[in-house]
Amino acid sequence: MPTYSRILALESSCDDTAVAIVENGRQVLANVIQSQTGLHAQFGGVVPEAAAREHIAAINSTLQSALDQAGCTLEDMDAFAATLGPGLVGSLLVGANTGKTLSLISGKPFLGVHHLYAHVASNYLESDLEPPFLCLLVSGGHTQLIVVEDYATMRVIGESLDDAVGEAYDKVARMMQLPYPGGPVLDQLSSQGNPKAYSLPKANTSGMYDFSFSGLKTASMRTFEKALAFLGPDPDAQSLATLQADMAASFQHTVVETLFEKTLRCAQDLDIKTLTIAGGVSANRGLRERFQSFVDENPDYRLFVPKMAFCTDNAAMVAASAYFNPYTTDIKQEVFSRSARAC
Ligand code: KG4
Ligand code: ZN
Repeated sequence: MPTYSRILALESSCDDTAVAIVENGRQVLANVIQSQTGLHAQFGGVVPEAAAREHIAAINSTLQSALDQAGCTLEDMDAFAATLGPGLVGSLLVGANTGKTLSLISGKPFLGVHHLYAHVASNYLESDLEPPFLCLLVSGGHTQLIVVEDYATMRVIGESLDDAVGEAYDKVARMMQLPYPGGPVLDQLSSQGNPKAYSLPKANTSGMYDFSFSGLKTASMRTFEKALAFLGPDPDAQSLATLQADMAASFQHTVVETLFEKTLRCAQDLDIKTLTIAGGVSANRGLRERFQSFVDENPDYRLFVPKMAFCTDNAAMVAASAYFNPYTTDIKQEVFSRSARAC
């Protein structure tokens, strides 16, 4: 399989317009992200039509910023890559068509990338990680346990049967009248709360490595509503802040323990000693700390987590994926077909 040393990649699957330039799948020369969070926060979630229009407005300046940051021109690239799916179709089209056009006018290859492959590949960036390893992929649309056998062979052996973790974070935060996206807000709040304040359920699933978060989401909402009602019709700011922090900490504690326990059981059963976390929720402070403290106490295990800039959607991970899996035709959607929900 040919390799392309310097790849310019585009990512526009959801609400971030991103362009990156990466060398040999690991050295990041540029990583530019134009976030749309401010736009969507007012609606409490991503509005697909608005996201697509915003990508159109932002794509050229983001591309130019990446070239400036790397000190390169388009002629210096060996290939162009873009996320082809899964994601919001109007958003995907912007990055995909820009990449294909650059390929056409330069005569260099276009590499199509699967968004989930890209999240897995985020751990190759600026690290020495090599397969085989186990990846806990936790994003806004997916929660999966993936055995990465080699750079091209990934097996999904467990996944959420309902809500993705990021989705549960966003919905619980929204119900608590906190801003979108809820994950970082609840993560931040949880550091001020008591994780044992509320006892929340950990779901049992029939599949050994599968997850379920809708029960936890509903229980968290009911618990919060009850506790809020207990404060009376006009709660003082301090009591409300304590309730929110305790709720955030209890929710996060339950999520983190569930994710950690299943991942560890899977790693032990399959005798895999290299663990990785990927996807937007891999930015979660509690999740990173839980895995890190386990690895500190068990030095026969290794842990890789992406740098913060490579956790949520970015194009550097797309370039890494294109380097290690250079599909010049189409992406292998079926690899992750057990769950095909968009971002
Ligand atoms: O990977 P990503 O950027 O987009 C998808 O592919 O879905 O993930 C976005 C998700 C959102 O649900 C967001 O709330 C969550 O990642 N997220 C977090 C944190 N930062 C982002 N969840 C928990 N803790 C965080 N620190
Ligand atoms: Zn993503």
